[in-house]
Amino acid sequence: MSTRKLTLRSFHSYALMMFGALLLSTSVAQAQDQAKLPNVVILATGGTIAGTGADSTTTVGYTSATVGVEKLIAAVPELKKVANVKGEQVFQIASESMTNDHWLKLAKRVNALLAQPDVDGIVITHGTDTIEETAYFLDLTVKSRKPVVVVGAMRPSTAISADGPINLYNAVLLAGSKDAIGKGVLVSLNDQINSAREVSKTNTSTTDTFKSTELGMLGYIQGNKAYFYRQSTRKNTVDTEFDISKLDVLPQVDIIYGYANMTRAALDAQVASGAKGIIQAGVGDGSIAAQMKTPLVEARKKGVIIVRASRVGQGIVARNGEANDDELDFVVADTLNAQKARILLMLALTKTKDTKEIQRMFYTY
Ligand code: SIN
Repeated sequence: MSTRKLTLRSFHSYALMMFGALLLSTSVAQAQDQAKLPNVVILATGGTIAGTGADSTTTVGYTSATVGVEKLIAAVPELKKVANVKGEQVFQIASESMTNDHWLKLAKRVNALLAQPDVDGIVITHGTDTIEETAYFLDLTVKSRKPVVVVGAMRPSTAISADGPINLYNAVLLAGSKDAIGKGVLVSLNDQINSAREVSKTNTSTTDTFKSTELGMLGYIQGNKAYFYRQSTRKNTVDTEFDISKLDVLPQVDIIYGYANMTRAALDAQVASGAKGIIQAGVGDGSIAAQMKTPLVEARKKGVIIVRASRVGQGIVARNGEANDDELDFVVADTLNAQKARILLMLALTKTKDTKEIQRMFYTY
């Protein structure tokens, strides 16, 4: 073999070796970059974020909960830049059909995932109608300080300017953010971060519907970063006394709504059907109509816990204000709206029937 051929052959092997080394170092660098990203699991439950309409201008009358989690993730390739994302379809429902059983299953799955060292945060995609309830249930039952972010959308995935993709991107960013650790369960839509306890849906259809009206939201997501400005003083997650790990069912708690000319029909039906607790979403400061006092006292004598909340939506229901709660052995909901008071009372009833203890919980969570 001539010296020239030998030189050419060694050059080729050298070039091949270098190319291989380059490929290896690129994939090592890519793997290192991915290893630096947080690991976020997306648990999909349905809702409008997974909804589809007849055409791109359909923003009402669409079908919720039709798009699967893998498709939701694939629709936002930018997620890969901010987290290593895995998806799980937990349910596929419109959130008006969310039940206590769904909550128990979801909370158990969240707790199991967050106990894994390789999971840094959770995003739950959810219908907006009951997002505030699911988020508050998780706020009281998740046993981890790692971020849990509940997210939805007001427009179906097929709509012009659908808000689902940006909301999902922000939620994943937030769930992977160190700043979100220990903040309790968060609800994020419309570039805003809200605490599960304070947030409510305030408009039937606009994309800025989620507000923590008077107590205020926690922060914003802007320019690929979460900014926090405040935090709830109420206990959540690892600091609560509630443990759902062995529970398969929650006590029945129902809501009666206050209005002029209110009758006892709904209350009596709920008590007869086995309610262990009643939330009275009373008018004003949780006032009780004259004709409702006897039915509520009768219910209490049967062992039903009565909690006075307000239909107003903001403010404290004053203990011993519009009713003598000490004498009637009633509880007040503090600032919780009726639907969130229902959740706290259900969980409280898994621990005690003592109204003093239950009142303490309403001032704690
Ligand atoms: C739902 O809550 O599942 C329907 C409405 C929505 O997600 O916006």
